[in-house]
Amino acid sequence: MTEAQTDVVDQDNLIDNENGLVDRRIFSDEGVYQAELKKIFARGWNFMCHDSQLPERGSYFTNYIGEDEVIAVRDDDLNVQVLINSCPHRGNTVCRAEQGKARSFFCSYHGWNFGLNGDLIGLPGQDTFYRGGIDKKDWGLTKAAKVESYKGFVFATLDPDAIPLDDFLGWVGRLGIDQIAEQGDVEVVDGVQKNIVKCNWKLAVDNLFDWYHPKISHGSAVKQGMLTEEFLAPMNQMVIMGEYGHAIGGAGVTEEAQQRLDKKYANVDTASNRKNPKNSNSWRGEQSAKDALGPVGIRSKGHPNIFPNLWVSTGGTQLCLRLPKGPMETELWWFTFVEKSMAPEVKRRVIQGAIHFFGPSGLLEQDDGENWSHATTGSKGLVTGSRPLNFKMGMGMDEVLIDPNSGQARIETVLTEHAQRWLYQSWAEWMKAENWEDLIKSHSPEPRGTF
Ligand code: FES
Ligand SMILES: [Fe+2]
Repeated sequence: MTEAQTDVVDQDNLIDNENGLVDRRIFSDEGVYQAELKKIFARGWNFMCHDSQLPERGSYFTNYIGEDEVIAVRDDDLNVQVLINSCPHRGNTVCRAEQGKARSFFCSYHGWNFGLNGDLIGLPGQDTFYRGGIDKKDWGLTKAAKVESYKGFVFATLDPDAIPLDDFLGWVGRLGIDQIAEQGDVEVVDGVQKNIVKCNWKLAVDNLFDWYHPKISHGSAVKQGMLTEEFLAPMNQMVIMGEYGHAIGGAGVTEEAQQRLDKKYANVDTASNRKNPKNSNSWRGEQSAKDALGPVGIRSKGHPNIFPNLWVSTGGTQLCLRLPKGPMETELWWFTFVEKSMAPEVKRRVIQGAIHFFGPSGLLEQDDGENWSHATTGSKGLVTGSRPLNFKMGMGMDEVLIDPNSGQARIETVLTEHAQRWLYQSWAEWMKAENWEDLIKSHSPEPRGTF
């Protein structure tokens, strides 16, 4: 028997890449979790919101960077600011609503008032009680170190040394977002679905690459015909791996099948396809999709994860954030996207599909959440926590293919756990690096040769 959970976990040796083993304590240990907040969430780029959620001056959306609540708000100059939602006086939140429009952020405790750029613009008793002993410019809301966006998808980091968002996303992260952004003029529909699962956030991320489980975990959905054999496609998988932990894992269309699809869609008119309510919302056959996603990207039907915790769901209709709420709890936020010119019936169908599959009422996520919760609990026992998990499927068995256009690495084979191993390998690199300079030097390049 190995050491009890109460001992300090040696954070340097939790992932064994050579043997495809993961120390289960990464799913429940408080010390590991606190290090993640600092080294992954505060350091990395976190998705905040989509431009369509901040339509005008004063529009705001509250979100999190790790466990720090933030307000993404369009300021007087129409730029997006990301402000820490905590009053510097006694720490009260200055914005309690999840989304809305404000002229300023007025603290409900003692009345300090903050402008849309976070500056302290007024406070009761400035002359009478403070008697001039406070300099307002020192007491604004704390701001994120950097805010940048890619095609209207806004991200923020607390680390001033973070590399530019575009470099962080790389080809894989951009391809993930392109699956939504390139559908046209997209917007988030009102109402982000939120639910809490008692699991570690990494198990929820690991699962989105996991095509081993659907036939078993989602057996009832298979029986109902919600999930088809074609969708599960276990013998035809594509894994694309990008720097800093991004990956896309899941079904891949073969080159021959893609050629057949190209012929089928050759004469489809994009505009009328979108407006015809009888058509599905899929845009993948359209020429614009091929131009935007490229010859490899168009064949990838898997799930992209933008490291650490942003999932683009199948079909590019939803984003899901897996927000950490302690080592053993995760809040899932589902953003649903529609293209503005879609027929209302098609929009309705997209929204109904989103509610039906995922989120608190989704048929699939109820199955998944149960498994993740029990797996999380199983990581903290004296005996259970001491036995590493097995990530060996396909290890060392596949050749990495290189896309001549982008230079991007991918594997096309049967079902594997390559994407999961890439996730945990990258996680370990983020956790070991002291700072961005270190991470830039020490992180793995995209794999080559055999993986
Ligand atoms: S806590 Fe905000 S004004 Fe006192
Ligand atoms: Fe699932």
